[in-house]
Amino acid sequence: MDKGPSDSDFVDPSSAFPADFAWGVATSSHQVEGGNSNNQWAAWEKRGRIKSKDCVGRACDWWRGAERDFDLARSLGVNALRLSVEWSRIEPEEGQWDDTALARYRQMLRALRERGMRPFVTLHHFTNPQWFEAKGAFAAAESVALFQRFTQRVVAALGEFCHDWATFNEPNVYTSLGYFLGEFPPGKKGRFLEAAQVTRNLCLAHAAAYRTIHSLQVDANVGWAQHYVVFKPRRMESALDRWLCGFIDRHFNDNFAEGIRSGRAPFPLSKFGYRLEDVKGTCDFVGINYYSRLRVGFQSKSPRTLFLQVSVPPHKPQGDSGIEVPYGEVYPEGLRRAVEHFAEFKKPVYILENGVPDREDRIRPWVIESIVGQMRGLLAEGVDLRGYFHWTLADNFEWNEGWHLRFGLFELDPVAQTRTPRPSAQLYARVIRESMGYGAMAEPFTTADASKNGSHRHSAEHQSANQQSPNGRGDQKDAGLEPSSGATAKNESGSGK
Ligand code: BGC
Repeated sequence: MDKGPSDSDFVDPSSAFPADFAWGVATSSHQVEGGNSNNQWAAWEKRGRIKSKDCVGRACDWWRGAERDFDLARSLGVNALRLSVEWSRIEPEEGQWDDTALARYRQMLRALRERGMRPFVTLHHFTNPQWFEAKGAFAAAESVALFQRFTQRVVAALGEFCHDWATFNEPNVYTSLGYFLGEFPPGKKGRFLEAAQVTRNLCLAHAAAYRTIHSLQVDANVGWAQHYVVFKPRRMESALDRWLCGFIDRHFNDNFAEGIRSGRAPFPLSKFGYRLEDVKGTCDFVGINYYSRLRVGFQSKSPRTLFLQVSVPPHKPQGDSGIEVPYGEVYPEGLRRAVEHFAEFKKPVYILENGVPDREDRIRPWVIESIVGQMRGLLAEGVDLRGYFHWTLADNFEWNEGWHLRFGLFELDPVAQTRTPRPSAQLYARVIRESMGYGAMAEPFTTADASKNGSHRHSAEHQSANQQSPNGRGDQKDAGLEPSSGATAKNESGSGK
């Protein structure tokens, strides 16, 4: 069994974090808004492709009332919030713009500002309007101009309230899962050449968006969110495992990012002499989404997906497992690997996502403490780390896993729309408070804040059962989570089916 948190994970973080450090939570439109029926994920759901068979439904009901969760976020003391805009709402048909959708986003961003939170807006977080998907989405050359036009509209409408933009969320996940593993729409498998074409167009669309944003907003802060996974060969003694691991590492972690760093076209286009000169250097920051470590093994089945098999050794700390595959080993030390991996950009870094699926909050407190410890170390070494966004505030619709995987600091009952704080909510609030110096921030999170939002507290028994380190030693007592009293029962529902 691996060791749990060490003493150094619990050192007072106040010395390390700059006063303007962005402490946030991250979300995305389709996962929280509800009622998005005009994108390719809605069609995917209709085709029965969500593994849990859940429906996104009202999700977290943000389209009608995101402000309730903004209050909740504020009660934790966060000073930043990352959300995405839904292209299929803003341009429901090609060339037709819905100004009421843009007005709703303006209202949301204003609401964030009023609550002292800095909005980080992602322009594309996995979802495409159906009309755009029907044209071939980013496999089509036209996608670059279409995305640029969309960007122009959004920034013109929302620029008054937002200066921090991520063009694409995890272009490497979008391409790998959609065109290589067949797990995301359009569900294609082993399409190396098409995947490369998509990456190339995503790079070009990003660069075009980068320039468009800067032409409208000189002081804009523009980047993207790159998903980083620590890969390790399953059997070190196997040459095939080592080779495959190296290949996956390069072609997943550097996918898209390499175009921006060096102007190199994605493999195999690079072999045919293609370059992306105009893309090189088009970022003001590097956004990193970091969650886990995976073992890579070669297996003789599935040649279309390069004989790839991913696994997690059973004794390693893990949150809840996905329906068919493990979500990944929780490996907080990997954050350093991720940051070092992108050091050559010589740009400020934001951790735009980090979290763990953990319905019972078994290991989330340890994950938060450990990641904060990692960030403190990096800052002390002079790394230009500017922010951290926890994924996520309240459980939201986890793509193919639906409501099966729960990432929230707050438990959501998607039917009753109640939010119940997990112990980690209070822990995150404390971390933020301490990092900012006591008293510098708004009031700490209280039970009253939660009940304003129709929530219930966890029972004391439940909470102490949760105060376990990943190795089950229960040494989270020092994490400062107070046992709650007079609690109401936890909502057990939440399947959303
Ligand atoms: C994605 C999120 C997702 C999260 C948890 C990230 O890869 O950007 O949309 O919910 O991971 O799996």
